Amino acid sequence: MAGSSNVPHKTPLPEGIRVGTVMRIRGVVPNEAGRFHVNLLCSEEPGSEAALHFNPRLDESTVVFNSLQGGAWGSEERGSGIPFQRGQPFDVLLIATEQGFKAVVGDSEYHHFRYRIPPARVRVLEVGGDLQLESVKIF
Ligand code: GAL
Repeated sequence: MAGSSNVPHKTPLPEGIRVGTVMRIRGVVPNEAGRFHVNLLCSEEPGSEAALHFNPRLDESTVVFNSLQGGAWGSEERGSGIPFQRGQPFDVLLIATEQGFKAVVGDSEYHHFRYRIPPARVRVLEVGGDLQLESVKIF
């Protein structure tokens, strides 16, 4: 785990997410990183549902996508390969399309996660785990 941590970080999204919303997350993966996550939560309350849990796992060389509904994880989806490396910067776009959240990492579309919870219900973007966060921007 990196020495100085600037996470967890939360960005309120009081009006939810609509088709066309782009969320850009930039940071650096620490040398000893295990996992980090970007969650699109439906409320500020502990145990909130998550429309998206985006979870790069350096310890397993995979990226897990899932939802959390009624306190239970749904079925996991994974992209192919892992476009993150320990010690390297990254740039992720999460784009709300008509069908789901499209994750673009660097220059490449990585995975498209179909909606299970409508994006209009999202209220918070949360970033946490093993990363050094550089910026979160919502367009
Ligand atoms: C679990 C893990 C959670 C979350 C979930 C996603 O195994 O403990 O943090 O990543 O998988 O399906």
